[in-house]
Amino acid sequence: NEDQFKKVISHAKEYGYVFQSSEIYDGLSAVYDYAQNGAELKKNIRDYWWKAMVQMHDNIVGIDAAIFMHPTTWKASGHVDAFSDPLIDNKDSKKRYRADVLVEDYCLKIEAKIEKEVKKAEKRFGESFNKEEFISTNGRVVGYQEKIDTILKRLGQSLEKEDLADVKALIEELEIACPVAGSRNWTDVKQFNLMFGTKLGASAETAMDLYLRPETAQGIFVNFLNVQKTGRLKIPFGIAQTGKAFRNEIVARQFIFRMREFEQMEMQFFIKPGTQKKWFEHWKETRMKWHLSLGMGEENYRFHDHEKLAHYADAATDIEFKFPFGFKELEGIHSRTDFDLKQHEEFSGKKLQYFDHEDNESYTPYVLETSIGLDRMFLAVFSNALVEEELEDGKTRTVLKLPAVLAPVKAAIFPLLAKDGLPEVAKKIVEDLKWDFNVAYEEKDTVGRRYRRQDANGTPFCITVDHDTLEDNTVTIRHRDTMDQKRVKIEDLKEIIKAEVDV
Ligand code: GAP
Repeated sequence: NEDQFKKVISHAKEYGYVFQSSEIYDGLSAVYDYAQNGAELKKNIRDYWWKAMVQMHDNIVGIDAAIFMHPTTWKASGHVDAFSDPLIDNKDSKKRYRADVLVEDYCLKIEAKIEKEVKKAEKRFGESFNKEEFISTNGRVVGYQEKIDTILKRLGQSLEKEDLADVKALIEELEIACPVAGSRNWTDVKQFNLMFGTKLGASAETAMDLYLRPETAQGIFVNFLNVQKTGRLKIPFGIAQTGKAFRNEIVARQFIFRMREFEQMEMQFFIKPGTQKKWFEHWKETRMKWHLSLGMGEENYRFHDHEKLAHYADAATDIEFKFPFGFKELEGIHSRTDFDLKQHEEFSGKKLQYFDHEDNESYTPYVLETSIGLDRMFLAVFSNALVEEELEDGKTRTVLKLPAVLAPVKAAIFPLLAKDGLPEVAKKIVEDLKWDFNVAYEEKDTVGRRYRRQDANGTPFCITVDHDTLEDNTVTIRHRDTMDQKRVKIEDLKEIIKAEVDV
């Protein structure tokens, strides 16, 4: 819901997680900076992914390819021709819209209208109606629902050129079904390429037109043979990487859900042709397990299999997550066949084949891809973690229940009072723990307030040094989620924290 989402955005700012980029110049839309805590959380998510995908798989290796790639890469990959959004301009308001988003907005409006009609009828007849039943028996609204269905069917993965005129007609139709004041004057729908262009080289004559990569995947495909040969890798094997990608998204909303500069974590798994079904299922299951291992609630995930497939895929599914604004794509799992390697063979004139010693044959491998947005995962983790709890005394506390393994600060160490030698002992604990964990020291305010601040910051443990500590070397350790407090030996702290924050 909208309120929760607003809270997420303001909490992210207030606690040093995410800032609008170039804020002092009024910001840049759909570009964000990660602040002191956000950078840690983001790094921890990246590491958690890397460990699961690279370190724990002896047949997956990691690379770090450049953001700049030879421009022919994007001809081969299909991004020059087929990586675009359908845009439509309103001639009166001079506003530009993404046609599919505009349609989605109309659909929502029409849905709301239907619901209003149902409510009205319920009031009038004094009985409750099932929405679907009501629509099928009520002539006045049946038209809307049919329109929604046709349109949603057409707006699949990508729009074909022939669809564009239809989309314009549909928008005009929808507007009649759901009039909006003052407008009804649209341009044709145009395709707008999402890649950012730049130039490499100084002189105007020799400079080369480049694109900023819109996905990290192509850096893996073009390196496939180099990595396979130097790593003596046998199929099936994977190549993983994390890194920045850039897309000139037209409709930028929903905070870090859709950004113009973002980070992807992708893995290409190279397999023998014909085995793609088995591997598709394998990676669906493996990736879902990874998500569930973070304990963010099984009910918050679902698969969404694609009916309409992108130009490169023979099967595709999304792992959707329940964001504050509803279930949306978090990760994509695609069976890409040999499309990419074959395209790069054709455009580069180089063979990208694998020699299978067991079967004594050469072939172009098929590829299974897992692709997740790091920023989107950040939003999933952060929005899921933010809760307001009602306490026994009637007060509320704001807690960021981040999975401990991902929390930016693992423990905060407090002296009960900033005197009597307590700060020295607390600082000594910080010195000892910081070799293993990111820890913080705080001595301002009451301990109660310091607890609240660390709760809101997502810190799993608070450790308090008091006068008894000076006698018996024990401290109070408090758990963020349960608020339980225990007396433990200083020398046991490391193991206690490790047990919770280590993967
Ligand atoms: N190599 C395949 C590929 O790039 P995609 O579905 O276009 O597939 C994969 O992107 C993932 O990257 C998405 O599931 C999403 O998490 C993330 N992503 C894509 N565009 C994004 C954007 N503008 N902002 C943030 N994350 C984005």
